Amino acid sequence: MSAGRASAGGAGAWPENAGDMTAVMGPNRIQGDALGVMRAPANTLRVASPYARFRRDHSRVLARLDSLLACVPGRGRAIDEPPLRRHLATIGRQFSTHLAAEEALIYPVLARSFPEAAPTLAPLHEEHDELRAMLASLIQRLATPRSRERDVQVGVEVRDLVDLLRVHIRKEESVVFDVSERVLEPRELRGLARRLDPFIAARHRRVVTRRRKGTS
Ligand SMILES: [Fe+2]
Ligand SMILES: [Fe+2]
Repeated sequence: MSAGRASAGGAGAWPENAGDMTAVMGPNRIQGDALGVMRAPANTLRVASPYARFRRDHSRVLARLDSLLACVPGRGRAIDEPPLRRHLATIGRQFSTHLAAEEALIYPVLARSFPEAAPTLAPLHEEHDELRAMLASLIQRLATPRSRERDVQVGVEVRDLVDLLRVHIRKEESVVFDVSERVLEPRELRGLARRLDPFIAARHRRVVTRRRKGTS
């Protein structure tokens, strides 16, 4: 860590909700916005944050969660399956790019440049695994014959998934994005942005191909 690096802290704000396609899933879309522009700690150089698109993804997922919960009203009321399946499929597609990019590039860059962050990154990795497992379990359960017991379990699992997503996003914005913007040098942030672009484009192509083949 250089002498110019500042201490971590603060919280990110979330922009307006947008359409179905996520910022990370959309290819060739590195773009800063008012929220994504950060001030380098040691000087006045301004760098478009590589995390802006990830914050936009978070915003869109969070905006979707209330609709997801509305599909499993509880108290014996029926689950609304078609929208539930659509929400889960969208979240699954986002996991394929967003979580993968965080694991392959964002977390390692922070861990390399700021080893003090390592203890906070390990639980976030574990939460990714847990989120994937929860989503897979839900999709599998929805494929089983409908019953009251199944629907109760689906409701429990949806609420658990929503809870973990909310916690994970809040934590990640605070201990990864906000910290990275404060401790990484501008050249490291620019390097990360350059590497994210082709990675996300490749993952996006893969998701689109699998979707066309009906394998996701
Ligand atoms: Fe994450
Ligand atoms: Fe994330």
